[in-house]
Amino acid sequence: MHIAFAASECVPYSKTGGLADVVGALPKALAAAGHKISVFLPRYRQPKLDHTKLNDAHTVIPSITVPFDDHYRFCSIVSGGNHAGVQFHFVEYPPYFDRDTIYGTPAGDFPDNAERFALFCRAVLEASKILGVPQVFHCHDWQTALIPVLLRTQYAEDPAFRETATVFTIHNMGYQGLFPPDTLPLLTLPWDLFTILKLEYFGNVNFLKGALVYADFVTTVSRKYSQEIQTSEFGFGLDGVLRDRSSTVTGILNGVDYEEWSPETDKFIAANYSSEDLSGKITCKRDLLTSFGVTDPDICLPVIGIVSRFAAQKGFDLLAQIVDRLAREEMIVVVLGTGDKLYEAMFTRISKQFPQKIAVRIAYDNALAHKIEAGSDMFLMPSRYEPSGLNQMYSLKYGTVPIVRATGGLDDTIEQWDPRTRKGTGFKFSEYSGEELLLTIKQALQAFKDQNSWQILMRNGMSKDFSWNVSAKEYVRVYERARQVRAVPSVTVADTLTFAGR
Ligand code: ADP
Ligand code: GLC
Repeated sequence: MHIAFAASECVPYSKTGGLADVVGALPKALAAAGHKISVFLPRYRQPKLDHTKLNDAHTVIPSITVPFDDHYRFCSIVSGGNHAGVQFHFVEYPPYFDRDTIYGTPAGDFPDNAERFALFCRAVLEASKILGVPQVFHCHDWQTALIPVLLRTQYAEDPAFRETATVFTIHNMGYQGLFPPDTLPLLTLPWDLFTILKLEYFGNVNFLKGALVYADFVTTVSRKYSQEIQTSEFGFGLDGVLRDRSSTVTGILNGVDYEEWSPETDKFIAANYSSEDLSGKITCKRDLLTSFGVTDPDICLPVIGIVSRFAAQKGFDLLAQIVDRLAREEMIVVVLGTGDKLYEAMFTRISKQFPQKIAVRIAYDNALAHKIEAGSDMFLMPSRYEPSGLNQMYSLKYGTVPIVRATGGLDDTIEQWDPRTRKGTGFKFSEYSGEELLLTIKQALQAFKDQNSWQILMRNGMSKDFSWNVSAKEYVRVYERARQVRAVPSVTVADTLTFAGR
């Protein structure tokens, strides 16, 4: 099958979070299973962009016309070559993408994000008519949501796409691409999309909603999150749309690219180790503490690691509630993250308040993220909601015991440790409260004191296999079902929606 991915981030070219890891890894797994895979990405300036991988970059389509209200813009398509069987194409339009950051500045999102990603979506469709139309477009998050919308509206008559199916993956319901109504004429989209059955959302245009209405199949990144987002607590206002489509909504857990995230081969860590020989982990712990400027560390103290985007989703307000009491415990917390100024300020403040206990680095640093996975004893993710979460799965492989809130993918991947049966892989709490968080951290710290059973706990996690093979097979099944929908002509999903009872 030929599957074309469209996404706004992908390792190793651009990354702000787990989306990039998924778009970097799933295509490789599908290509290894024999599928023809192309990946379309914007060509950013991003400093983290790995230029060595773009050495053979060359323009394959010099000009694609993208209409806007009263003018055209002209972008080009640059081939990034074929890596591990995956063909990369970049949409090049420097006025939109050659910027310091991907989505915005600390002051907020770029004001032209609707235009930027609409241009991207239109360019992907036009480019694929020249480079080869896939059987399935697999689109990710609101930035690519217009692809399924365009295919079933303005491109509905295009013979090139008659049999092309679309699968849309929600990585996070919290980001929807909400824009004012006049975005529609600006992007030359028809006004008849502006109804409650289509893209209209409380007087605005909602890109994500468009994809949920028009994609043939909708997936999200864990089984539990696929259920959660159909409730008002987690649906961010779109739970009703998803409930109406529930027979075409599935949860497929993200996998881990163990070529990038394994203590046995990791290039960024001070010593490699495995579940058979854990000795290197102490070297990693020492190196980690040195990286955080902890001089003369007591290596027996448990280290709790955090690597995260700082966003309300991640639950760090709970940590703020209990930090005074947590700081009395025998442990060290190391934190790496960037994002909301609010949380950056909070972490900076608590690291100044408890310099012996909490070390903070406000930065985006991939090498340090690997060091934290390897050098910590525990990894903390108290998320308010978590579609999948990758770091807890990375942590398991590094023998770094996750402490998580039982939500979304965190609940699906971590099994509560039971000291009597010696089964389980981590520590979980359900109620979103500082008290529960503190209690759970204390349980973990207590368990750490019994090093014999702790090593069993570590090895339980290290033996788990969350590689992409299983999930890639599930995606293939979804692609096949989506193609079957396309084989039955003339039904658009939007036609079948009734919005009954709302
Ligand atoms: P999300 O996508 O919501 O941010 P995930 O757990 O799915 O959460 O993925 C986060 C990814 O981003 C992981 O690969 C993690 O290591 C990485 N990451 C997050 N923040 C940083 C940071 N400050 N420096 C380096 N890597 C980071
Ligand atoms: C999102 C989610 C995260 C998920 C990632 C990749 O950013 O917040 O839980 O792992 O996407 O799917």
